[in-house]
Amino acid sequence: MDLMAKVISLCKRRGFVFQSSEIYGGLRSFYDYGPLGLELKKNIAQLWWEYMVDHRDDVVGLDSSIIMHPKVWQASGHISNFTDPLVDCKNCQHRFRADKQPKLEPSTDIVWMVKDRASSATYGKKVQGEVAECGYVCPECGCPNLSEPRPFSGLFRTFIGPIDPLAQQENMGMELQEALAKHSAFLRPETAQAMFVQFLNIQKSMAMKVPFGIAQIGKSFRNEIVVEHFIFRSCEFEQMEMEFFCEPGSEEEWMDYWCQQRIVWYRALASQPGDFRLRAHHAGELAHYSDCCYDIEYNYPWGWDELEGIASRGDYDLRCHGEASGAKLQYFDPQKLDPQTGCSGWRYVPKVIEPAAGLTRALLCFLLDAYTEEYADDSDDKVPPVRTFLNLHPALAPYKAAVLPLTKDQSLLDMATTITKQWRREGMKISLDVTRSIGKRYARHDEIGTPFAVTIDHDSMTDHCVTVRERNTKQQTRLSVDKARAMIWEAYRSPWLN
Ligand code: GAP
Repeated sequence: MDLMAKVISLCKRRGFVFQSSEIYGGLRSFYDYGPLGLELKKNIAQLWWEYMVDHRDDVVGLDSSIIMHPKVWQASGHISNFTDPLVDCKNCQHRFRADKQPKLEPSTDIVWMVKDRASSATYGKKVQGEVAECGYVCPECGCPNLSEPRPFSGLFRTFIGPIDPLAQQENMGMELQEALAKHSAFLRPETAQAMFVQFLNIQKSMAMKVPFGIAQIGKSFRNEIVVEHFIFRSCEFEQMEMEFFCEPGSEEEWMDYWCQQRIVWYRALASQPGDFRLRAHHAGELAHYSDCCYDIEYNYPWGWDELEGIASRGDYDLRCHGEASGAKLQYFDPQKLDPQTGCSGWRYVPKVIEPAAGLTRALLCFLLDAYTEEYADDSDDKVPPVRTFLNLHPALAPYKAAVLPLTKDQSLLDMATTITKQWRREGMKISLDVTRSIGKRYARHDEIGTPFAVTIDHDSMTDHCVTVRERNTKQQTRLSVDKARAMIWEAYRSPWLN
């Protein structure tokens, strides 16, 4: 957890992630991505898009609305199933999720602390008790005296139209429920559903042939009971999802294929590839729509936990939306024989394999993966004894290089500005950094993961060479400006293009 605290501190200090509305005390579980966090997030999203869409012929994109027709969430099963079991502690009033509590043997003897009603901050005497039939106790005070679990919807409700039904109601009974239902809409809890709902439009307009995929990156919202581990689980987050539509009978083959593709993607970008693994779900873990699922897990400071889910969703979603809307969400393959009739031409509801990744969660993983400390061999009263750097793949790094004039001499500034402008014109994200000592500038760029520092000194005016310092090794090489540029370009090429 020490690593987690260090990464959270770096995120704030160096402009990656801030708490939302911090000057008002912060809004729990909502985050703002600062100048460097948004660059890192953009790079992860762009690398996902390049790998999943741009470099393939069989996947196309979508950018759908966040608020969709409420019937979408009825048909998808979210209104009835997208709930967590919420429990209240009758002693300390703590609220928690029943399914996340460690299981204890019912009737086991326990000792718990009675909440002192007179003073809200402290606990009173210790009492003996027994674990109840449910097999868990309050995670806050240990009390076994708990409410029954009740379903708590993870959907964020909002209203469409000029009527605010809450403001209109005088008596808050059934009438309110009906008015709410009539005017409610929901912020999407996943990006996936739009890709099912737009299946026909995309298949027809782009003349896509099964197998093919639809990909989308965007915000999702879940009213999580427990938000945890910084941006790991928050109420507003971003997802990168792809729905891959395939012929019935080919799901297993495509499931294997996408599991391999996705783990290769993470490992190619990771500093410690062994900290990313695939794990098959056992039957009890499967979501209501899924008949087989793998997680890509990361070895977080609290242990292995989910980063991405790859689910075989069968034809559940297309079938549900087809039945609820009346649209024929099917595909006709004139080349194939219908397995039922033996006649040529096969009309079927495609099966779906879904690699569903969290963009903001991947950002946390790549920061944890990259965070490195080493003892500084050149430590003195100006250089701290521990050097911290982010060993980010250059393709992920917010800046590809920092251009650093050694002094504030005008001729050095002019050359630095010329090189920066030229490289920016070619599409490189460059930081032109002229403030503070060269040591402090190196330290800052190490901490934000800039792979190369390009220093311009007085000799550069005559030999047109620069000194390139490599972030991880601190090795310095004197190179012509053109060779330095080529070296930086080469390093940040997407790893799968090598
Ligand atoms: N369409 C399927 C789906 O949404 P999911 O496992 O619920 O599946 C996919 O979500 C990914 O989205 C997760 O693996 C995780 O990376 C990310 N995710 C889900 N809930 C999240 C939350 N509350 N905060 C941050 N990321 C979340």
